[in-house]
Amino acid sequence: MKFFIDTANLDQIKEAQDLGVLDGVTTNPSLMAKEGITGKENIINHYKKICEIVTGDVSAEVISTDYEGIIKEGEELAKLHDQIIVKVPMIKDGVKAIKYFSDNNIKTNCTLVFSAGQALLAAKAGATYVSPFIGRLDDISTDGLNLIAEIRMIYDNYGFNTQILAASVRHTMHVIDCAKIGADVMTGPLSSIEGLLRHPLTDIGLEKFLADYKKGN
Ligand code: G3P
Repeated sequence: MKFFIDTANLDQIKEAQDLGVLDGVTTNPSLMAKEGITGKENIINHYKKICEIVTGDVSAEVISTDYEGIIKEGEELAKLHDQIIVKVPMIKDGVKAIKYFSDNNIKTNCTLVFSAGQALLAAKAGATYVSPFIGRLDDISTDGLNLIAEIRMIYDNYGFNTQILAASVRHTMHVIDCAKIGADVMTGPLSSIEGLLRHPLTDIGLEKFLADYKKGN
């Protein structure tokens, strides 16, 4: 299972990278804006900085919503760095663009996916990753994890190569449940990765081991 961090915060990306378990980064325009990164040039420079920190895939989202615009923007983004994955929204022109990118060896992440039908379409178009937003489904009293399970079944039925990238992950239980279901990747905040470390019995056990060691020295 790959771990991506879902942020544009360089300190948090560095921290996750230093932990040694990071496989990539996802961003979106909202995450960029949260870090105060606005304007095309600044956003492009930020993607380059992220690529310098991590060794894995870095999703960079297109803003255009028409086919020609998505292609132009996606090709520019893909040229920035070989780690860049062009993130395309699940809209009609987006699906057409994903097919074009797939035919031209440009990797894509189909974003804003909320149904199994959308995920099937993304796979048919040849998306490298599909991003079902599980937290946002949970927010509206719909089972986000069930969507991951449905997509897993559909992709396995037909041997689709598109990787299921569980997105809008909010906490450690999302990560663990996605791992149980067989999501290929999860992307979440640093807290969802670091939270996996913690258990009170680990802390209590370590304290006792260290105290007992000191007794003999
Ligand atoms: O990866 C998608 C993500 O950025 C959305 O997360 O927490 O805004 O639903 P959230």
